[in-house]
Amino acid sequence: MFTAKAIGRVKSPYRETKDIPKGLGARHEAEGVLEILPEFEAGLTDIEGFSHLIVLWEFDRAQGFDLLASPPSDNRTHGVFATRSPRRPNPIGFTVVELRRRDGACLHVRGVDMLDGTPILDIKPYLSSIPQESLRRGWLAEAEERQ
Ligand SMILES: C[S@@+](CC[C@H](N)C(=O)[O-])C[C@H]1O[C@@H](n2cnc3c(N)ncnc32)[C@H](O)[C@@H]1O
Repeated sequence: MFTAKAIGRVKSPYRETKDIPKGLGARHEAEGVLEILPEFEAGLTDIEGFSHLIVLWEFDRAQGFDLLASPPSDNRTHGVFATRSPRRPNPIGFTVVELRRRDGACLHVRGVDMLDGTPILDIKPYLSSIPQESLRRGWLAEAEERQ
């Protein structure tokens, strides 16, 4: 397996996990900056054309993992791989953000749900080809119905 190294850090308004909206109906509209290290800046060439980006990052302030997780959106436990819990065997986070503008090695984005200083592992353009009607939302849809 490769050893992950950060390509940059997230500048986020969130200093503590309690500040980040969570649970059913939580909306992530906070603005932030993906600050990419100078040695990776050339990798941002042509990124401006994409409206949304997938950001892969490290849950660097999570410790350990649970195979059964209790998400804030439900009062029932679910397998960690059926949730977005930070406490997972490989502490990798995934967030789709809207790209507002690029300023050199800084990407100004909207929709961050990471803590300030979170290490960025990778960035990819977001291209969803799954029609809305084909998506199933599993236990989350059931939790929403019970509310
Ligand atoms: C439910 S996770 C979802 C994150 C991402 N959208 C995903 O699906 O992988 C979001 C929570 O992760 C936690 N979090 C954010 N940044 C973190 C970090 N750097 N280290 C540990 N936990 C973090 C916060 O508690 C936040 O509410």
